[in-house]
Amino acid sequence: MTDGNSETKFSNQMWGGRFASGPDAIMEEINASIGFDKKLYAQDIRGSIAHATMLAHQGIISAEDKDKIVHGLNTILSEIESGQFDFSRRLEDIHMNIEARLATLIGPSAGRLHTARSRNDQVALDFRLWVKEELQKTEKALTALIAAFLDRAEEHADTVMPGFTHLQTAQPVTFGHHCMAYVEMFGRDRSRVRHAIEHMDESPIGAAALAGTGFPIDRHMTAKALGFAGPTRNSIDTVSDRDFALEFLSMASIAATHLSRLAEEIVIWSTPQFGFIRLSDAFSTGSSIMPQKKNPDAAELVRAKTGRINGSLIALLTVMKGLPLAYSKDMQEDKEQVFDAAESLELAIAAMTGMVRDMTVRTDRMKAAAGSGYSTATDLADWLVREAGLPFRDAHHVTGRAVALAEQKACDLADLSLADLQSIHADITEKVFDVLTVEASVASRTSFGGTAPNEVRKQIAWWRARN
Ligand code: ARG
Repeated sequence: MTDGNSETKFSNQMWGGRFASGPDAIMEEINASIGFDKKLYAQDIRGSIAHATMLAHQGIISAEDKDKIVHGLNTILSEIESGQFDFSRRLEDIHMNIEARLATLIGPSAGRLHTARSRNDQVALDFRLWVKEELQKTEKALTALIAAFLDRAEEHADTVMPGFTHLQTAQPVTFGHHCMAYVEMFGRDRSRVRHAIEHMDESPIGAAALAGTGFPIDRHMTAKALGFAGPTRNSIDTVSDRDFALEFLSMASIAATHLSRLAEEIVIWSTPQFGFIRLSDAFSTGSSIMPQKKNPDAAELVRAKTGRINGSLIALLTVMKGLPLAYSKDMQEDKEQVFDAAESLELAIAAMTGMVRDMTVRTDRMKAAAGSGYSTATDLADWLVREAGLPFRDAHHVTGRAVALAEQKACDLADLSLADLQSIHADITEKVFDVLTVEASVASRTSFGGTAPNEVRKQIAWWRARN
């Protein structure tokens, strides 16, 4: 801003550069949503057909007008699907683009379609239909991911690996058990998807601008035609509600957080230091400079997409938090967040399903790691409680001394001699060695939901019946 003395010059310097014609162009740019809401064309046309059919059924428009409208809308549908439709930013959004084209195609009858409706209930309907379909896709995708984990869990019900807390070796578990932890997580995500579908299963159309309408419409009829359980019950809430989008994004954020934790484990497991798994070539990439490298890029990108999805949730919560009832234009900003999150989530679930199905599990490496780090120390303590009658706190102490001794001798607990162990507690017998191996350790954890292979097989069967 070197020269601010002329109003025209000042304005031009501020915003003149990229706009063809001053404020009008800026208004058009900030106002138009066609760039992204054209994604809703199929839902918009479906909704309009249901609305027009109801209007004719109720005698609000004539059967001839309805027929023309339906025919015109179907023509527009095929124009859009074959790439022949000319979207115009001047017409702001998908609703007005379609209505304007309808007028060109069928003339004045087109003007009757918008009777007893507003863009406010129209957009609420279109977006709901879109989110509902996306939720149904997500449900299927999660089912495939769960199936991949169930297969790997079954295959590895007996494969021992270290279980971690604080990423420090804690107790031996099985890889099958670890896989089933993810089945639980994605199973919860899937029930969140189902709940979200249930919550949103009400039709907004007919709420009109916010107050309802004086025309004798039948909202139950349109709800039924569009596959909803019934109509929404409050017209003000209907046009100001975006809970269905927020629930989609909350579900997506939690699911993505699960995917990200899995991604992180895959990154760790596939390092040469851990070497628990080998990713398939299909889901890894090489380095442009270091020929030996195989990078878990897909897992890393899943981890990163989570940031994006979580960001979308916060963005929409923030858009909504200050809005008075009912509709405000702010709400137009709901779509891009949901579209972006949906695309990211779909891709992340698909990539993870592929990685889980294809990865090679290195059972030898897992087993070797399972036995290190004194992972059976709790088994020794439990044995002292069971067989020598010690209170658990004392048993914990005695075991601590055994671990210290093993550390001193640079060996595992199972490698200590009976004499070594008896020097720590006289009641220890030869039988203790039965519980010090990792296999014995996992086999002993038979509590419901525990890591014993038979217990894990029961949980796999439970899930198989529900997947
Ligand atoms: N494009 C708008 C949106 O996505 C449609 C609703 C416009 N309603 C209005 N009263 N201006 O929210």
